Amino acid sequence: MLDKIKELIGEVQAFTTTSKDEIETFRIKYLGSKGVLRDLFAEFKNVPNEQKKEFGQTINLLKSSAEEKVTSLKEALENVTEENGVYGDLTRPSEPMELGARHPISIVKNKIVEVFSRIGFTVSEGPEIEDDWHNFTALNLPEYHPARDMQDTFFIEKNPDTLLRTHTSSVQVRYMEKNEPPIRTISPGRVFRNEDISARAHCIFHQIEGLYIDTDVSFADLKQTLLYFTKEMFGKSKIRLRPSYFPFTEPSAEVDIYWGLETETDYRITKGTGWLEIMGCGMVDPNVLKNCNIDPTKYSGYAFGMGIERIAMLLYQIPDIRMFYENDIRFLNQFKSVL
Ligand code: DAH
Repeated sequence: MLDKIKELIGEVQAFTTTSKDEIETFRIKYLGSKGVLRDLFAEFKNVPNEQKKEFGQTINLLKSSAEEKVTSLKEALENVTEENGVYGDLTRPSEPMELGARHPISIVKNKIVEVFSRIGFTVSEGPEIEDDWHNFTALNLPEYHPARDMQDTFFIEKNPDTLLRTHTSSVQVRYMEKNEPPIRTISPGRVFRNEDISARAHCIFHQIEGLYIDTDVSFADLKQTLLYFTKEMFGKSKIRLRPSYFPFTEPSAEVDIYWGLETETDYRITKGTGWLEIMGCGMVDPNVLKNCNIDPTKYSGYAFGMGIERIAMLLYQIPDIRMFYENDIRFLNQFKSVL
């Protein structure tokens, strides 16, 4: 009898199949309510007492071998079906999904938008492919105006000129054409210039444009807005406005913030002066208002424009503008903790 059971154990252990039906047949044969094991257990009472112990251990071994066999064959079968794209246990936890990171340009753009939206600015956008009117002429840069050379333009077509916008100031024009004052809007977007690529310059980059038009807007309003912005954005409260020239603003200025000279890096990025240029601005030229059908005798306003890369480089101490466009995962992952 014992030999017979041991033989069965050998059979059970040697058994293999990849068929679900065969596993079930096997299970019923050994473990079923009319199976081999049941018969053997029934036999137990007839076994002489001195053999009971060994007999018991052997059928228990047969039972556990049969159970293990069924489980392992079923598992193997599940793994096979999963590889074939059929799900196994649907209650298992899913694959962990890795959290991505926002691109630093988006982080900085969102922050600027957020700061200005708190003081009533809305967000507006315009096309990246522009016509001459919106990128140049309406902004007080008529044909042959020397300031057109300031911006190396990528032309798509000549006559009529179609080009990649060289600045987001084009959105000012589009917005004024469609909206009546009071206007408070900021326009983030991508701009293009035919420039050699280096650590400091790229032919594709991002700007954010601001425009405020209402009755009695003065330079003091502009200055106060800029001060608010630099405080919120950089935590710095010292700015200066240097007279400058832009065709679309009169007077025009460049905005510097006092960054300080506390660290080596401060020294390097401010070239030892402590001051850092962050944007251009000015009072919207009456010609620009006229070009956009806004009465300059009734309304006045200010505008400003800044490069997003420049600000991101400053905030995160990024030494090379090209890093923004390489999409190196080691660079991007560093922004995971920033929202
Ligand atoms: N459009 C200018 C540029 O690309 C930036 C700028 C300067 C925008 C002064 C303005 C402004 O709105 O008032 O360099």
